[in-house]
Amino acid sequence: MAFKYITAEEAASVIKNGDNVGFSGFTPAGSPKAVSVALAKRAEEEHAQGHPFKINIFTGASTGDSVDGVLTRADAVAFRAPYQTNGDMRKGLNAGKVEYADLHLSQMAQEIRYGFMGKRVNVAIIEACDITDDGKVYVTTGVGISPTIARMADAIIIELNAAQSKSIKGLHDIYEPADPPYRREIPIYKPSDRVGKDYIQIDLSKLVGIVETNKPDEARGFTAPDPVTDRIGLNVANFLAADMKAGCIPSTFLPLQSGVGNVANAVLGALGEDRDIPAFEMYTEVIQDSVIGLMKEGRIKFGSTCSLSVSNECLDEIYANMDFFHDKLLLRPSEISNNPEVVRRLGLITINTAIEADIYGHTNSTHISGSRMMNGIGGSGDFTRNAFISIFTCPSVAKDGKISSIVPMVSHVDHTEHDVNIVVTEQGVADLRGKSPLQRAQAIIENCAHPDYKQLLWDYLKLATKGHEPAHMPAALAMHAEFMRSGDMRNTNWAEYVK
Ligand code: COA
Repeated sequence: MAFKYITAEEAASVIKNGDNVGFSGFTPAGSPKAVSVALAKRAEEEHAQGHPFKINIFTGASTGDSVDGVLTRADAVAFRAPYQTNGDMRKGLNAGKVEYADLHLSQMAQEIRYGFMGKRVNVAIIEACDITDDGKVYVTTGVGISPTIARMADAIIIELNAAQSKSIKGLHDIYEPADPPYRREIPIYKPSDRVGKDYIQIDLSKLVGIVETNKPDEARGFTAPDPVTDRIGLNVANFLAADMKAGCIPSTFLPLQSGVGNVANAVLGALGEDRDIPAFEMYTEVIQDSVIGLMKEGRIKFGSTCSLSVSNECLDEIYANMDFFHDKLLLRPSEISNNPEVVRRLGLITINTAIEADIYGHTNSTHISGSRMMNGIGGSGDFTRNAFISIFTCPSVAKDGKISSIVPMVSHVDHTEHDVNIVVTEQGVADLRGKSPLQRAQAIIENCAHPDYKQLLWDYLKLATKGHEPAHMPAALAMHAEFMRSGDMRNTNWAEYVK
């Protein structure tokens, strides 16, 4: 079949003001890079003529700057779901310019199917490395919600990216569950189980055209490791090795989920080095450079993921050594990589980062000072609630010690005390399993709080009224209020709360 090759501008011209537009990828990996840029230009031209022009963006997770950044700066986004990490988008949604639905990532595809996101997906823009005459689309480094948007969209635009190697074909496992009441179990019993196809079948009658591109993923850089993240990593590794020795974790170990960023890198590095921990598997939503390094060393045996969120150098290395990696990696839709049923069945050890945790174990992954959105809950809830052991890590203080990450009450709750098993800071580890609220508070203050804040938190606990979960409601957010007043939580004075 002779495909219609079009320019990014021609592709963008089919998108209308108010359209629901679905984008492929998961993190910048596999996110479109050309049509969104042309669309932003078009939005600016429409605005200059006094015409409204904004779209609603549906994705698997965050995107590259060419989607969230470029479109936000063009004031072309009305609504965004389910996750983002872009600085300009963050400003836009905190200023109320962009409506934002922060969702568990496993739920995005089904919420689109259920009609919770509006009646239809008008356009799907999918990055691919190959397409066949009969409409088999081979996606690239991030799968996200691509199978669902490709099936549901009225119109499909393919960005055929020559910078993504066709050697990635075969790594994907594309599976879309039926909706209730017809849904069946997802037959994944170990991370390497394959349940779907390695391509997305599209209806070619919906194909608007193919836009040829040659742009690498807009991978994020790493900041240098620091002693605090290294210590957190070591604390997690030591805890897991001890828990295995104690017989809680089977001696074969269990598959791991781990987030992105420096803490995750440090944790994986420490786990890789700890020879008490056997080589392990991952069932996770993102794989970053550290995982690939540990695979080469034989410390990680297999990785099931939604995206290869790696540096461009690392991706080149994977592409160049596909013989080695092809039976060690699987790329699945976010609905499957993060699926609560599978997470519970496989018994994952989950490791995610919090902004703050309170003395009872409620954690906040999303909001600064209760109201300012950072990124979103991402997959942390999908994994935490259903984990074999759920771990949250964070440095004990932020902003040069002026903020304690351990507080009497979190300013926003993403994960409740019922779901969080272990809290780890560079100070130590609080094991909350099998503990009452008061015992949890004692473990967290003793083991995780920074020395500058320990006494303050012990004094709060004394102030807290009796009850199953002691609290002093007027004082519960006093440390946050003090930071807003004087810029330093250490100035908190409980005297004003003592009658
Ligand atoms: N109060 C106020 N600000 C705080 C804070 C607190 N308790 N703790 C951290 N911060 C600030 C930091 O100072 C930093 O500010 P800056 O950007 O001005 O430098 C910012 O928040 C980010 O902190 P950092 O330590 O760099 O965090 P991170 O890169 O490790 O990210 C999360 C931490 C929680 C924001 C991030 O892990 C996330 O978005 N999590 C939710 C999604 C998720 O868990 N997905 C599942 C796995 S991929």
